[in-house]
Amino acid sequence: MTHLAAAPSPSVRVRAPGKVNLSLRVGARQADGYHPLSTIFQAVALYEEVTATQVPEGAGVTITVDGPQAELVPVDGTNLAWRAAEALATQVGVAPDVALHLAKGVPVAGGMAGGSADAAATLVACDALWQTGLSRDDLATLAADLGSDVPFALLGHTAVGTGRGHLLTPAMTRGEFHWVFAAQAEGLSTPAVYGRFDELAGPDGAADEPGLDEDTGLMQALRAGDAHALGPALHNDLEAAALSLRPELERTIAVAREAGALGAFVSGSGPTVAALARSRQHALAVAASWTAEGVADSVWCTSGPAHGARLLP
Ligand code: C5P
Repeated sequence: MTHLAAAPSPSVRVRAPGKVNLSLRVGARQADGYHPLSTIFQAVALYEEVTATQVPEGAGVTITVDGPQAELVPVDGTNLAWRAAEALATQVGVAPDVALHLAKGVPVAGGMAGGSADAAATLVACDALWQTGLSRDDLATLAADLGSDVPFALLGHTAVGTGRGHLLTPAMTRGEFHWVFAAQAEGLSTPAVYGRFDELAGPDGAADEPGLDEDTGLMQALRAGDAHALGPALHNDLEAAALSLRPELERTIAVAREAGALGAFVSGSGPTVAALARSRQHALAVAASWTAEGVADSVWCTSGPAHGARLLP
């Protein structure tokens, strides 16, 4: 009698990047609860890696997680990766039977869209696993329904985002920018930061239509690959709200500036602080200052722009 070895279950691996908003301009809350944005995203080379493995029919979606702060990540239907697998399965009419393994490389709940990167990577992974034949545009439409930052995690590089942040136009950049991130053990809730933004804006609210007019210098700095010009142009309308919820982040920003960062500010809805460095070497020096001063729970040196969600061989 011959025994045939069981064929390994088909499996695909996808990487998707975290992001920093180089500029984040926020308008007044709309009737649907969202704020119109005018933002410039840059993907950074901190990646989430999602492995999707085919499982027997009827097994449904399962999630396992490893990496820093993995214990903070939900492994049920509230995880955006789970919802991404289900949304794609529904769209193409297959059963959502897949085991997802998330290897975290982006700070959790840090304002760097790690959960959105998981969702984008899951869409690309399940699309390949199930051979759906959907276009990248179809995936982008599904992505936008999952969350405002998911389409950018698919696209990567540097892009202007409008609407909820989901309508994207690629932006031209030159060279590499060196970033350091100071992450905190305790994340901030994005809705809570937007809520504080509304309180701070007062009854008259923020400007209705945030525009990119003020970001001409920033776009020019990107095109020129000029980090010294980019530093002072970095801007975040959510920073005051994040700082009012976490006043101690002021010190994290100040330490980066004292260490010569070209710019230091809250990343997205925080609490991660981003610092732009002159070089890889200088990024390490800023990171060392943060560690020495004890103003970050973890520090992450990286660079941008980075590619969007992509299959690994
Ligand atoms: O789209 P996403 O699920 O990532 O958004 C999370 C929350 O952040 C929303 O429920 C909303 O409170 C807030 N948000 C917003 N305006 C945006 C994006 C997000 O108010 N443009």
